[in-house]
Amino acid sequence: MDTLMPTANAELYAIADRVLPGAGLGSYALAKDIRFVFAEGHGARIKDVDGREFIDYVGGAGALILGHSHPAVVEAVQRQAAKGLHMFGTLNEPAIRLAERLVSDIPCAEKIAYATTGSEATQYAMRLARAFTGKDMILKFEGAYHGNHDYALTSTFPKSLGNDPHGQDDTAGRPAGIRQTMCVAPYNDLDTLRRIVLDKKDELAAILVEPVQRIIPAKREFLEGIRKLCDETGVLMILDEVVTGFRLAYGGAQVHYGVTPDLASFGKVIGAGGPLAVVAGRADILDLSDPARKGAPDYVYFNGTLHGSPVAAAATLAMLDTLSEAGTYDRLNAFADEACAACQAVLDRHGLPAIAENTGSLWQILFMKDGPVSQADMMAGDAAAMRKLDSECMKRGIYALPGVRRFFATVHGERELEDTVRILDEACRAL
Ligand SMILES: Cc1ncc(COP(=O)(O)O)c(C=O)c1O
Repeated sequence: MDTLMPTANAELYAIADRVLPGAGLGSYALAKDIRFVFAEGHGARIKDVDGREFIDYVGGAGALILGHSHPAVVEAVQRQAAKGLHMFGTLNEPAIRLAERLVSDIPCAEKIAYATTGSEATQYAMRLARAFTGKDMILKFEGAYHGNHDYALTSTFPKSLGNDPHGQDDTAGRPAGIRQTMCVAPYNDLDTLRRIVLDKKDELAAILVEPVQRIIPAKREFLEGIRKLCDETGVLMILDEVVTGFRLAYGGAQVHYGVTPDLASFGKVIGAGGPLAVVAGRADILDLSDPARKGAPDYVYFNGTLHGSPVAAAATLAMLDTLSEAGTYDRLNAFADEACAACQAVLDRHGLPAIAENTGSLWQILFMKDGPVSQADMMAGDAAAMRKLDSECMKRGIYALPGVRRFFATVHGERELEDTVRILDEACRAL
């Protein structure tokens, strides 16, 4: 409750309540009994404006795989900011060096093009696919998130299942015509997908898929099956790696799964917390956006004030240097497994019907029996209990958005694990 809130938080929220819709920065606004204002973050821990400390598992929505204020990243940002914060029109060296590095490190990347956010990257990938194939429709999966644009906001939060062909609107203000250009299919269900794709292949430009849909890992044969189906039908495969890129493995989920898409979107970790995202893929598709082709009927417009931000590119390069050190991902993923096993032991001790689920460093506590494989499994879980437990944890010093998938970073260690287990134990008791 606000009245219990220490002074600086209360003062700032009194302003925020007046001037920000719902006192939020987007679709998340914390409930009044747990909300706080971020002041600073170092490593795995953050402090609010009243000096209270939290272990951070939100990690800037997954962007901060090295944790907060990593010295190499801060140093790169400071060095570049002192030389120039922003540049438009002509190239800058960090943007070229980063492009070269990504082309060498991402399997599908013959070329890359810059964007500012993950949403922009998925939107550009869809635009490229439509221009390249001359077809309008994109298939996405029920429950998948691809960003904030009108095309993506199709059955991301479906109230019921089986909404193919066109899915449900996730937002008001979305023109009805957009709906006709999207279709949806159930995740991890290759037979249904095959039926839909064969039926619609003459209208379908691309299949857009998350390698880990929220917290549901793709079955290997599902991604391999999509690749095969795309090869058979001439439909393009777009892998949305905004979350998984350089998180599931160095290079992305396409390295982990050994499946190479035609196009892929990257953001979050690529960007290192700065305004930078990327579309990577086949040169013959990306070259549709070559500015020399302006005026051609299939020229694809790509542009943004912040594209190729030198500060964000410098930060990302510094981060990639650290991430590419031997053993980084093995250590991160092993820690994630160990931490989830420890959380599971706490849940079991309290007899809660919940699982601590992880795919690499993506994790969440879910109130269900087995790891989910479909959106139906997600919808069958007890979402209210999950949010309640997460809220109880936040009251005690774990920052993880209630009911939302969260992340381990390379800076989470034994001390965080001990504190997490203790806090979870107390929260289970309170539940
Ligand atoms: C898989 C996926 N794609 C796209 C996006 C959109 O990225 P952004 O929030 O940077 O626009 C997100 C964001 O969470 C995401 O998880």
